[in-house]
Amino acid sequence: MKPIKVGLLGIGTVGSGTFNVLKRNQEEIMRRAGRAIQIAMVADLNTERARELTKGECEVVADANLVVSHPDIDIVIELIGGYGIAKDLVMKAIANGKHVVTANKALLATHGTEIFQAAQAKGVMVAFEASVAGGVPIIKALREGLTANRIEWIAGIINGTTNFILSEMRDKGLDFDVVLKEAQRLGYAEADPTFDIEGIDAAHKATIMSAIAFGIPVQFDKAYVEGITKLQASDIRYAEQLGYRIKLLGISKRTPKGIELRVHPTLIPAKRLIANVEGAMNAVVVQGDAVGPTLYYGKGAGSEPTASAVIADLVDITRLATADPEHRVPHLAFQPDAMTDIPILPMSEVTTSYYLRMRVADQPGVLADVTRILADSTISIDAMLQKEPSEGEQQTDIIILTHQTQEKNVIAAIGKIEALSTVAGQVTKIRLEHLN
Ligand code: HSE
Repeated sequence: MKPIKVGLLGIGTVGSGTFNVLKRNQEEIMRRAGRAIQIAMVADLNTERARELTKGECEVVADANLVVSHPDIDIVIELIGGYGIAKDLVMKAIANGKHVVTANKALLATHGTEIFQAAQAKGVMVAFEASVAGGVPIIKALREGLTANRIEWIAGIINGTTNFILSEMRDKGLDFDVVLKEAQRLGYAEADPTFDIEGIDAAHKATIMSAIAFGIPVQFDKAYVEGITKLQASDIRYAEQLGYRIKLLGISKRTPKGIELRVHPTLIPAKRLIANVEGAMNAVVVQGDAVGPTLYYGKGAGSEPTASAVIADLVDITRLATADPEHRVPHLAFQPDAMTDIPILPMSEVTTSYYLRMRVADQPGVLADVTRILADSTISIDAMLQKEPSEGEQQTDIIILTHQTQEKNVIAAIGKIEALSTVAGQVTKIRLEHLN
């Protein structure tokens, strides 16, 4: 059978990894796919570098439109990123009857519904394993491996940059700003790290996973997003003393009222496997009703780990390219006419546990006032830590862990606690999940 022809848009870190791995493992990949997979065209604005990387083995062009409209190209790999030109090119590729492989989580989390509808109508596949957790095959697991299950919840460390920063903060007792600078110097964090440290990248990925897990449309605009920029080294230390680690988690959970979809720093028991995922690694726990908890772990970024996911999609498409579109695995795991519109809950309706840290005057009755406010708000206390004031200080930190309650109850209680004359400044609130 003649090779399936691929057009690559963007030959940066992931694109060059894809080119190299495909070449290095071509025989093994062909034995799996049933025919050769050949990168026939590469589009990149830096044509000189692209020619160097591809060593004359394929056509190099600066204009990506030439690739998405070329009659010989069967599959387009989009590795440009962002929602602008990448969206135009993906839509054009689909309109021209090309299958698409993309690592672009921002694009799918925001415009996925439109893209999947267009692909469905045209009978082409849009594959996106590389968009969530890089080389970890979590999309495949959710969409196919766990297909017997009613998924109950997903919780993942799906941003390597922030996990690296949190690991360093814990290991070295340093504050966020210091570690961020070090991460940038080492190349772990981008010069503009906003998407990573503000939780946006993780929210894109959580949005995609929630759609596949629950059969709902991708709805990034409904996700609650909170990054790690306000975390203090002292919170990481106190959490540790109480037996917890703080991780930036992407969480999506089915509840009787709707779907929770949220990204925020989270205390998790230190004994959980996922609490011990350190550095830039990614991990996702999926709880299915039949299988129980399952854990997926690996590199969430990087040239060849991400290429591993891109090529897995190429092989999938190669195997299924000639199949009747009706008999392919649906893009979002559920048949398009079987998607549901269960609402995504506003954050005020989310139920979880909390870590509360407050700076209080060291005098009689303060703790009683605070606990009375919590009791009046029907918030039950799970654990407490009070530090001795430092030499010569009149104030001290109180840390309270609560049992599960609704976010709106906690916000109301915090307002009342902050109004006490014995409480200085704001109460720090970090959510806590037991993941059991
Ligand atoms: N910037 C991401 C991370 C990798 O730090 O995990 C690409 O999604």
